[in-house]
Amino acid sequence: MFARRIVVVGTGYVGLTTGACLASLGHRVVCSDLDAAKVARLSEADVRIREPGLPELVREGLAAGRLEFVVGSASAVREAEVVFLCVPTPMGADGSADLAAVEAVTREVRDLLPHGCVLVTKSTVPVGTAARLRELVDRPDIAVVSNPEFLREGSAVHDFLNPDRIVVGSDTQDAAERVAALYARLGAPTVLTDAASAEMVKYAANCFLATKLSYVNAIAELCERLGADIADVTEGMGFDRRIGQSFLQPGPGWGGSCLPKDTAALLQAAESVDFDFPLLRATITSNERQRERMVDKVVEVCGGSLAGSRVGLLGLTFKAGTDDLRDSPALRVARLLAARGAELVAFDPGLRGDERDLPEQVVLVDDAYQAAKGAAALVLLTEWPEFRTLDWSRLAELLDGPVVVDTRNHLDPDVLRRAGLTWRGVGRPT
Ligand code: UGA
Repeated sequence: MFARRIVVVGTGYVGLTTGACLASLGHRVVCSDLDAAKVARLSEADVRIREPGLPELVREGLAAGRLEFVVGSASAVREAEVVFLCVPTPMGADGSADLAAVEAVTREVRDLLPHGCVLVTKSTVPVGTAARLRELVDRPDIAVVSNPEFLREGSAVHDFLNPDRIVVGSDTQDAAERVAALYARLGAPTVLTDAASAEMVKYAANCFLATKLSYVNAIAELCERLGADIADVTEGMGFDRRIGQSFLQPGPGWGGSCLPKDTAALLQAAESVDFDFPLLRATITSNERQRERMVDKVVEVCGGSLAGSRVGLLGLTFKAGTDDLRDSPALRVARLLAARGAELVAFDPGLRGDERDLPEQVVLVDDAYQAAKGAAALVLLTEWPEFRTLDWSRLAELLDGPVVVDTRNHLDPDVLRRAGLTWRGVGRPT
């Protein structure tokens, strides 16, 4: 397989991971971004995104001369064989994905692309976007390909280099095959399809995962009411290969920068073609309810009211291993607790303390012990592994009320009980 001259537009977590990983596969990659300061930093291998393995890959790519960072895409694309669009597609006012950045870049580069170049959408874009970009480019020699990413934040490099599958869709078969060939070394199953189907795979997969979680969270609630244990129930379900063990962990609801955005966008897309999708709507609304259920648990253990009570929070990021607060269920729960009058003191090992998105009612402290001091209850919201090995006897002494609400079923109830604490999980006997 020959090394390709690739341009990646946008150096967010998808673009930077894509660029650095493609360079590690032997391709020559130029990553472009509008932010000159960021380009200067990345050119020095200064990576500010928290992704294990990414700084190393960027450093190796730069040193080997296979990876380069430039400001703006105009000059970069003139020699490209393949251009990946990795710019943000945030949620627009009506829930659909906002394509302004994707379209702006396409307009900027369309007349500059060399003959036979392939334009690839990597960002999550609505079904029909490739067709729309083809019209916008309006050049018969330029093919548009959809190649959605399935990277999880916090394990993006691992996921890129060990993919479950590669999905490539285009209405030009040859272009799809050329893009698929970029990944040949990974030896992953490859689905070659048309552009609309590739775009749909991404939404269908993320919405399925969200539905799986909403379902598990509802079953956990039922377990609580009917006296079953969700940990054993999901274990028993997961051995069925058609279900699988992963993505069955109940929690305070699913969040992050992808699942909420993609569920809203697919629902909006369904509405736009007069398709009623109650299943997906229920997936979203029951996720909202899940956060409220967590708040109800805290209110209950605090004796029915939170007014004036201090509550300690363990974790604020949307999942462990990231510093990302976007659409974090933990933050939603925090806001709801604050609305009930609680005073909140939080610790999160992923945050530095200079975050701007924190609700003003949350005081961030440097460790779990400060978060527990004088609190009526301690609430675990994010599954950071280090929370498992906290000194629970010390925490029991510091807490005002000896209760831990574990919204992720992350802690060992026996350890907590031995420390004299009451443990309240989700869908499990107390
Ligand atoms: C998700 C998908 O998993 C990726 O495949 C996809 O590429 C990505 O979105 C995207 O569209 O870019 P990510 O948002 O990084 O990845 O996060 P996940 O690890 O999927 O977790 C999503 C949410 O579900 C988190 O709030 C997490 O805590 C929650 N979750 C996950 C559970 O509550 N229980 C589980 O068992 C798993």
